[in-house]
Amino acid sequence: MNQGLYIGVMSGTSLDGVDLVAVSFEPLKLHATLTIPFPEQLRNDLIDLTLPADNEIERMGVADVALARLIGESINRLIAENHLDKSQIRTVGSHGQTIRHRPEAGFSLQIGDPNLIAEVTGLPVVADFRRRDMAAGGQGAPLVPAFHQAIFQDQMVHRITLNLGGMANISVLPAGQPDQVFGYDTGPANILMDAWCFQETGQTFDQDGAWAATGQMNEALLSQLLSHDYFARPFPKSTGREDFNLEWLQQQIDDVQLSDSSLDHISPQDIQATLLQFTAQTVIDAILQTDLATGELWLCGGGAYNRTLWHAIANGIPQWSLKSTLEIGLAPTWVEATAFAWLARQRMLGLSGNLPAVTGAQGLRILGTLTHR
Ligand SMILES: Nc1ncnc2c1ncn2[C@@H]1O[C@H](COP(=O)(O)OP(=O)(O)O)[C@@H](O)[C@H]1O
Ligand SMILES: [Mg+2]
Repeated sequence: MNQGLYIGVMSGTSLDGVDLVAVSFEPLKLHATLTIPFPEQLRNDLIDLTLPADNEIERMGVADVALARLIGESINRLIAENHLDKSQIRTVGSHGQTIRHRPEAGFSLQIGDPNLIAEVTGLPVVADFRRRDMAAGGQGAPLVPAFHQAIFQDQMVHRITLNLGGMANISVLPAGQPDQVFGYDTGPANILMDAWCFQETGQTFDQDGAWAATGQMNEALLSQLLSHDYFARPFPKSTGREDFNLEWLQQQIDDVQLSDSSLDHISPQDIQATLLQFTAQTVIDAILQTDLATGELWLCGGGAYNRTLWHAIANGIPQWSLKSTLEIGLAPTWVEATAFAWLARQRMLGLSGNLPAVTGAQGLRILGTLTHR
């Protein structure tokens, strides 16, 4: 059972696209990869579903089917284009799209119907990874730390993995101490930068952080952003678009401008530079709060390609050496999808997928529900 291929399918809060991988484990090997950008209509529908509005059940049902069909067809394409032998594929791990993450209320909702994915692909599908952890009192997030631990923990060197997706999460992996691993969502990574960049320039993201690099970080706005009560909360904690979105950002900009009229002329690129520093600062603070003095910081997620962000983080923690996960043959883009392939394999092997120290769950749990082929 632990041989063979696993397909991982992930689309995170950025809603930039669906990432697919076919991987085998022990040793970890990537066999095929594919990213499918969201059709604009579906992307807008999914974003709309992340905040309360009218007629949600009907719209959710329609999006659930549309996304599942897209995922199923993308899996078929991954298999066909790479000439993968379908009989070698053990299972698909499909995260689905989070449309609401409300750990305080005990729920997190991912859509992309696994029944339809199984029907379209003829493959067994593990999905609904988060709710068992929540049933056990956890946040249901982040779930990647167990995978980060399995792949990155070292006997000699302290390591932290940092996933820069829509949100940012860290997994803290003290050298040789598997029972001391912890992690949490540090706050937004790209979500506000993407939204601001799109509103101001029409580009869906700031390639390499080039636009942010033309601006000046604004101290008053940065401290206003840092005053969000999420950052003072102790972990376990996790976050999403519910906490950090364009409306919230606009409110913060209005608030600083009200209190200081000299800030009326803060330029769009200065705001972008401030958002970038906001992500960097919350990550830096989280790393300084660990009691690890030095080590390696492994970056993954799309934000690992943002050079300006990379340098901003490096500047704040000179005692840490920054590395791209590409150094172990797993490009930053594919880490999360690989994690959900790994979580699906854990499910098939009857092994746990959560880390109670990360999610706050009462104990280890086998995650995900299986839909047969
Ligand atoms: N070359 C790049 N330069 C700057 N940012 C990038 C680059 N490539 C990807 N990104 C950022 O990464 C985001 C996608 O990251 P991803 O890990 O897929 O997040 P999610 O898991 O939320 O989907 C994009 O929205 C963009 O902000
Ligand atoms: Mg993505």
